[in-house]
Amino acid sequence: MKKKLIIAIDGYSSCGKSTFAKAIAKELNYIYIDSGAMYRAVTLYCLRKGFITKNGIDTEGIKNSLKDIHITFVYNPDKGEYETWLNSENVENEIRSIEVSNFVSRISQIPEVRTRMVELQRQIGVFKGIVMDGRDIGTVVFPDADIKIFMTASVDTRAQRRFDELQAKGQPVDYREIKKNIIERDVADENREISPLRKAKDAIILDNTNMTVEEQMEWIRGIIQEKLHGDRDR
Ligand code: DC
Repeated sequence: MKKKLIIAIDGYSSCGKSTFAKAIAKELNYIYIDSGAMYRAVTLYCLRKGFITKNGIDTEGIKNSLKDIHITFVYNPDKGEYETWLNSENVENEIRSIEVSNFVSRISQIPEVRTRMVELQRQIGVFKGIVMDGRDIGTVVFPDADIKIFMTASVDTRAQRRFDELQAKGQPVDYREIKKNIIERDVADENREISPLRKAKDAIILDNTNMTVEEQMEWIRGIIQEKLHGDRDR
């Protein structure tokens, strides 16, 4: 049987992790899992259930509801991509809203939420042949992943990419605001108590500040081939 890999991609916000991970999954015919989307889906559920209010976050309510939150990834043949579903509803667009973005880092800090998500992520990984991106995939979710990439790019490059992306969508954007948000998210990701963003010891760093997606693909092809066929050719 053909060998299948688990490829873990971690790194900073707006580094192009999902673009890169999707391109790899497409080329290998693997499943792409956006672990950030899972934390976003939980956040959407909490907003809808009223667990997040201006008075604070009802952590107990969230913990008790975790068993009722079912997240799946369903292939959309029209888009050629997997989309995030929450309890039988396609929430792919709604989880990208500003409201969800504003609360997701706080929800993803709740230990029980992380434990449940990691459990689900490992279940998805059982059959291998997956590319998963996030913040703790190579360190916590799949410490034995076949390939671990840690992505980074300069803050200015990331801010510019995000600026271009939002502008293309016709959203009002302020470059300084975006840059500030990226810096804040870096600090939050690196300093949270549980599963902070860290490079796994055996992860390979990819700084894509001056690289196109195709250049990144060229870079990783050799690494993939070595993993898939290295033992055989030796
Ligand atoms: O990748 P993203 O920006 O869509 O992720 C949304 C949030 O979820 C982000 O604030 C960090 C958090 N996250 C996490 O804590 N662990 C992961 N494996 C993925 C995302």
